[in-house]
Amino acid sequence: APVPVIAIDGPSASGKGTVAERVARELGWHYLDSGALYRLVAVAAARAGLSLDDEGRLAETCAAMTIEFRDGKAWLDGIDASEDLRSEATGIAASKVAAYPRVRTVLLTRQRGFRRLPGLVADGRDMGSVVFPEARLKVFLTAALPVRAERRHKQLMEKGMYAKMPDVVEDLRRRDERDATRPVAPLRHYSDALFLDTSGMTADAAVATILGWWRERS
Ligand code: C5P
Repeated sequence: APVPVIAIDGPSASGKGTVAERVARELGWHYLDSGALYRLVAVAAARAGLSLDDEGRLAETCAAMTIEFRDGKAWLDGIDASEDLRSEATGIAASKVAAYPRVRTVLLTRQRGFRRLPGLVADGRDMGSVVFPEARLKVFLTAALPVRAERRHKQLMEKGMYAKMPDVVEDLRRRDERDATRPVAPLRHYSDALFLDTSGMTADAAVATILGWWRERS
């Protein structure tokens, strides 16, 4: 039987990362944070001083980079990139890089490589639509913009990164718009994904809902 996949897609700061990781832990499955791969391309580009307009060089850098997730950290070409990875600047750069078809193609194989027994929970923007179209459960996980802004703001503060609330709202709005309107693999609630609005929901409740859906299906 093929390795089962649960695909969880949704906008920035929806809480999908937290929820997906916990669903994976509950099931004892592997977890793929696909956004981290796009963020790593952005970090690699910054390290190499590449212009974000240069699709060709970006795709080459992406093909050449070695990445490793170990000890709760992300390593890029052997150097710890965990801190750079989570900044807002990296998120914004990642969404620019992610609009290039050649970059997406290079990352496709890498992402599929995470699919291993006993199963994979993958989160991102196009897990159910492009990367794992045959996933047995697809979820579109979202929350209202003010709720997502609160979550992102709290996350940034906890990391000691100061940010003004209006700037956080504006960054999220711009990034969502870019992710939703790009021609390749746009962020969208496809009809084969179950819709989960977590605005008034705890992470626990969201995890329980998804585990319930999975049980109904397996
Ligand atoms: O999820 P996260 O905010 O870490 O993703 C950073 C950016 O990477 C997103 O804004 C999006 O443009 C891009 N991305 C993507 N496809 C994915 C995951 C992330 O295009 N599967």
